[in-house]
Amino acid sequence: MSRGRPTGVRSRRRFGSLLAAVLACIALSASACTKEMPEAGTPGARAYRAKCSGCHVLFHPSLLTAEMWKTQVRLMEEGEFKRRGLKLTDEERRLIVDYLSAHAGVR
Ligand code: HEC
Repeated sequence: MSRGRPTGVRSRRRFGSLLAAVLACIALSASACTKEMPEAGTPGARAYRAKCSGCHVLFHPSLLTAEMWKTQVRLMEEGEFKRRGLKLTDEERRLIVDYLSAHAGVR
């Protein structure tokens, strides 16, 4: 059956643009990274900054979909966090995933 919209193609491209954003950050170390975070003062935004900016730039929430964020946070916890003895509390995880999902890209 053919599907209405070629969404699969678009969401695979998302990863390409994320990588491009990261590379642009490294190359320019400025403008590509400084796009304002939405709702910067809220508990979710603060938890995201506190827990997710230690090792790399803070990726803008709109770079991934809500579903991808959920997976990414789990991958970070199971991989990099564990390797370095870091942890998210249930509350922090909820705040971060809710925050990222609320401002996520649509596909
Ligand atoms: C202990 C260090 C560390 C912390 C803390 C950390 N990350 Fe990462 N993150 C990494 C490393 C290393 C990579 C690149 C390797 C990889 O993709 O696994 C990465 C990659 C990523 C990527 C890009 C994946 C891709 O496919 O390009 C995203 C998105 C991400 N992290 C999100 C997060 C979020 C959200 C948090 C907070 C919950 C977080 N990171 C906290 C180390 C960290």
